[in-house]
Amino acid sequence: MIRDLITKNRSYRRFDSSVKISFKQIKKWIELARFSASGRNMQPLKYAVCIDEKTNGKIFPNIGWAGYLSNWKGPEEKERPVVYVAVLHDKSISDNYYCDDGIAIQSILLGAVEDGFGGCIIGTFNKTKVTKILSIPESIEILWLIALGKPAEECILENVKNSDIKYWRDENDVHHVPKRSLDEIIFRSS
Ligand SMILES: Cc1cc2nc3c(=O)[nH]c(=O)nc-3n(C[C@H](O)[C@H](O)[C@H](O)COP(=O)(O)O)c2cc1C
Repeated sequence: MIRDLITKNRSYRRFDSSVKISFKQIKKWIELARFSASGRNMQPLKYAVCIDEKTNGKIFPNIGWAGYLSNWKGPEEKERPVVYVAVLHDKSISDNYYCDDGIAIQSILLGAVEDGFGGCIIGTFNKTKVTKILSIPESIEILWLIALGKPAEECILENVKNSDIKYWRDENDVHHVPKRSLDEIIFRSS
């Protein structure tokens, strides 16, 4: 059920790094992005998949994890993602990628969740350094990273209280994600 998949598809930032993901499996998730909508059907997005432990170790320090958790420096070594997928814009195909990126990323993440994995979209990263690490040519721009692995944390959805949208962790290290109520987000129905 799509509702179950979407509620389970949280931003996971701690993983069991002993559980690896095969390239075949990742290709299956990227295929879901391939089947997704694309403005003018230009399909200017491409994907760089990094499973290599050494390269992942170079990417990790260039990422900003969970900005609202100011006392948390990001996942410990044994909790780190086992895969990074860099979402790329091939500028030689089209200048504009409309909202293809969000749709594609959601497709990939839902595929991962359906198979018992999970991930986190990463927008805060050192683009210059990651571009160099992944040897991405100038005609291609990295838009986002998706960190993937076997989730090793519990994330709970809850309603926003007192307008505070900041996610937080409780004393048991459970991650809480406040969402605005339906009444708040449906501006008008007539
Ligand atoms: C465009 C975008 C960029 C994001 N960038 C980061 C990031 O750099 N680091 C991070 O830890 N989480 C990042 N996230 C995850 C959000 O913090 C997360 O979606 C939000 O807290 C809501 O949690 P949920 O995804 O479980 O609903 C990003 C999410 C989106 C959609």
